[in-house]
Amino acid sequence: MVQLFGSDVPAIVAVMLFGEVAVFCVYLVAVLFAAVHRGKPHHYMMLAAFLTDILVFKPLMSMRAFGDVWGGYPWSGTSILRHMVLDTITLVIGIATIYLGFKYRVKRENKMFMPPARKKIHRVVGTSFIILWLVTLVVGISIFVESYLP
Ligand code: HEM
Repeated sequence: MVQLFGSDVPAIVAVMLFGEVAVFCVYLVAVLFAAVHRGKPHHYMMLAAFLTDILVFKPLMSMRAFGDVWGGYPWSGTSILRHMVLDTITLVIGIATIYLGFKYRVKRENKMFMPPARKKIHRVVGTSFIILWLVTLVVGISIFVESYLP
């Protein structure tokens, strides 16, 4: 257990909470890089944050949800099912964004960019991903607040 916001919280929950907030910060910085046409750092940061999320934090959360912590599917009386459905939709949109990134990127003279029409599609799908990811995070934080804070 660790002390967080005046309450005892399992250490793994604190790791997930701060880890997901850090992933979101990296997403925001990566979007800023794209906005100033720094395609290369944008693509590395997006891939690193996305992979860290789906290979580390989401498996940790799923292990807790499918373990005995919340009483099993459909986790009555909690927002866990909503959180998972949102997360699955977001995952699919994230994969689509990455696919479009690789499909439409142009590499020239050690730079990476996208022709305007192609960038528009990638930007719309990518922005939807970021917004849905944030909504999923907010639902996750609300589960944390309801479960652990007084
Ligand atoms: C989930 C992952 C990703 C998200 C959410 C995302 C989101 C975005 C957004 C919102 C923009 C437009 C920014 C703006 O013009 O204001 C953008 C541009 C761009 N993205 Fe991504 N992206 C992702 C992954 C990737 C990947 C994997 C690549 C390359 C393989 C990539 C390559 C690019 C490039 C080259 C641009 C244009 C940069 C420029 O203006 O020169 N993106 N992305």
